[in-house]
Amino acid sequence: MATSGRAARGSGKAARGRPAADAPRVAVAIRPVRREDLERVIAIDATVTGIAKRNYWRSVYERYGKSGAAERQFLVADRGGQVAGFVIGEVRDWEFGSPPCGWVFAIDVEPGARQAGIGTRLLDAICANFRRAGVRKVRTMLARDNTLILSFFRSQGMMAGPFIPLEMDLA
Ligand SMILES: CC(C)(COP(=O)(O)OP(=O)(O)OC[C@H]1O[C@@H](n2cnc3c(N)ncnc32)[C@H](O)[C@@H]1OP(=O)(O)O)[C@@H](O)C(=O)NCCC(=O)NCCS
Repeated sequence: MATSGRAARGSGKAARGRPAADAPRVAVAIRPVRREDLERVIAIDATVTGIAKRNYWRSVYERYGKSGAAERQFLVADRGGQVAGFVIGEVRDWEFGSPPCGWVFAIDVEPGARQAGIGTRLLDAICANFRRAGVRKVRTMLARDNTLILSFFRSQGMMAGPFIPLEMDLA
């Protein structure tokens, strides 16, 4: 099974009479993050979470933005020199006994730029890089009540996987 389900099925959106993934509705370049993008990334994240987590984002940049390895991805959508969204993920080896796969653990598009294909472009780009890294499966996790992100990932062809999350409070 390929990474983005849409890619696996050969442009699923086009098949449903919608614009294909390779026909962006806005002029956007997907590229690796740069240090000078961090303020925009922090601002976009803060619009979603309500918290400007500067130290967190600096450490994410150090870990994923500077590596240059296909296994660690921190990509931004650059719209005329302004970052309009980002996606972050990594290849995880043999986690829970599963063969190496790509994990997407953050994707955000600024509210004013949504529903124009940018999220799709970001996911397509990170999936392409995962494929280059040699994996053939992509996973993510989301909050049960986040119907927006669920709708987005479902539209990309992602479906429930074989794992379930468990957690407990630590005293
Ligand atoms: C989810 C998100 C990344 C989508 O980005 P986007 O640029 O708007 O996505 P696209 O324009 O590529 O949309 C692709 C598909 O997703 C689905 N989708 C997007 N927005 C939607 C909405 N508001 N309601 C329902 N479905 C939606 C649609 O199926 C859409 O295809 P269509 O336009 O042909 O109908 C963006 O809404 C976002 O950043 N949301 C907040 C993310 C978040 O909660 N992050 C925290 C967890 S990491």
